[in-house]
Amino acid sequence: MMKVIVTKNYEEMCQKAARIIAAQITLKEDSVLGLATGSTPVGIYQELVKKYEDGRLDFSEIVTVNLDEYVGLAPENEQSYRWFMNHHLFDHINIPKQYTYVPKGLSDDLEDECDNYELLIQQLGGVDLQLLGLGANGHIGFNEPSSAFAAETHVCTLSDSTIEANSRFFASKEEVPTSAITMGIGTIMQAKKILLVANGENKAKAIQQMLFGPVTPQCPASILRFHQDVTVIVDEAAFSLAAEQE
Ligand code: GLP
Repeated sequence: MMKVIVTKNYEEMCQKAARIIAAQITLKEDSVLGLATGSTPVGIYQELVKKYEDGRLDFSEIVTVNLDEYVGLAPENEQSYRWFMNHHLFDHINIPKQYTYVPKGLSDDLEDECDNYELLIQQLGGVDLQLLGLGANGHIGFNEPSSAFAAETHVCTLSDSTIEANSRFFASKEEVPTSAITMGIGTIMQAKKILLVANGENKAKAIQQMLFGPVTPQCPASILRFHQDVTVIVDEAAFSLAAEQE
């Protein structure tokens, strides 16, 4: 089942999403949280840090697994997703760092890293709540539009449009890695609950296709309609095209 919540703006989207994550932590103190990077979740992480600072959240028993990581970037590299997570969340809350997992993009054996990551998620008992952003082309994690859904954690090639979109974080487009490790669609679909967030007009088409288009690997997020517990929080701008179809 997919529940859609439309908010006035980005701030309200973040507050609502942070409340859902906080509720999960309150209900199960040792939750396994699946986390995402990108601009969209930044405000959500700020809200969570605030709740922690106010003494309303305790992360001491929480375990996190991130969706993806660029291949070839060291954890100290400010463009790596490991650095992003430390900087926006982990450094500001009481989570033991050793229980925050991000795929290792510098691994000598990437295939092995993917297999181990998949196994790790299973050994942790699966993801209780997976946070997802949405690519403008409908990607989730780094599962790009393609002819088939990739089930497990794998190495993927980034599409030109994603490299272009993500180049805003890099000095130049040439510096953006061309491949990444990402949880597969099957990995994501196994999460017990999913929370997808999107804001802004540039996500409107992807949201419309995710909600009303065919379920197809050409729009990877569309598969979420087959998941039993998905909450989508979008602002009015991201919902604008879908609204015409309601
Ligand atoms: C990146 C990430 C995704 C993210 C997407 C959207 O490519 N791999 O996990 O959801 O971009 O990013 P943003 O939130 O910056 O729009």
